[in-house]
Amino acid sequence: MSVEATAPGKMILFGEHSVVYRGPAIVLAIDRRARVVASKREDKRVYIDAEDLGFSGYFEENEYYALSGKAWRGRNLSALNVASKKVMEHLGVEGGVNLVVRSMIPMAVGLGSSAAVCVATTAAVGELFNGNLTKKEIAELSFEGEKIIHGTPSGVDNNVATFGGIMKYERGQPFESFKLEQQLPFVIGNTRRKRSTKNLVDEVRFLKEKNPEIVDGIIDSIGKISKIGLDALFKRNLEKIGDLMNINHGLLSALGVSTPELDELVYAARREGALGAKLTGAGGGGCMIAIAKDENLSKIEKGIMRNKGQSIRVNLSDEGVTTRRINSGDS
Ligand code: MEV
Repeated sequence: MSVEATAPGKMILFGEHSVVYRGPAIVLAIDRRARVVASKREDKRVYIDAEDLGFSGYFEENEYYALSGKAWRGRNLSALNVASKKVMEHLGVEGGVNLVVRSMIPMAVGLGSSAAVCVATTAAVGELFNGNLTKKEIAELSFEGEKIIHGTPSGVDNNVATFGGIMKYERGQPFESFKLEQQLPFVIGNTRRKRSTKNLVDEVRFLKEKNPEIVDGIIDSIGKISKIGLDALFKRNLEKIGDLMNINHGLLSALGVSTPELDELVYAARREGALGAKLTGAGGGGCMIAIAKDENLSKIEKGIMRNKGQSIRVNLSDEGVTTRRINSGDS
């Protein structure tokens, strides 16, 4: 018997970086998902086949042994080792697991791929050992894995990958989640430049420590944008959402996390009729998002591609983490 779990990626509409301190951030789950199939092993190793991401290997006594791809990739995979071990510890069981990881979420570009993989791993291992984990437990246990990769993450990524939908996430507060009534007309532009969320969060922290009198105000303003933005989202006021996205992008630039490539895609989208455009996620590369009237979406996509970006069309998704038992013979 094995268990398949899937979890969605995300885009942050407002509030990245601000949410590391307080937030809130407004986050939307998307219909690109990560899939993990877990099965039991006789020994205590955690084997991870992540071939479509370009690497595979196993952990024994928390030491990584690469089977394909570079050994330093073990750092990415150690989140899954930690999440698996935390689940077993939580359930009071001992054992090893095989994890087959496949993902439709582009990696390391701000769309929550590592959180989705970590959440799916947590859920799959939990179900494999008959843990009946609640979503709250899945979010909490996967956060232990996330911390391995991201250092001091806010918790927004693993929560949205667990619960799906639209989420208002604020540190130290119970999050609020909302279902979608209607799709929103978004386009994502990917600079294709991979980056590390941990490094960017560290850089912002450093800037804040050096200049608290200015940076604290910026963090607060971004939080305010999220609050007003959520109201605009409920009213489906696309123009207001667009204005707030533009201002949010300017403030993220002030924090030093935009790049020339991100700015090019943001300005290309605005030139082609976007009501608003901003980077999404940690910045430093990765993706931007634009909102526009339906009739302008394909013009914006072409503008993104003309400026060396990859355009990704996604739908928002209410579906959080899912699990399914697979008996041998099923696919
Ligand atoms: C990463 O998706 C968003 C950041 O705010 C970091 C975090 O919230 O952990 C940059």
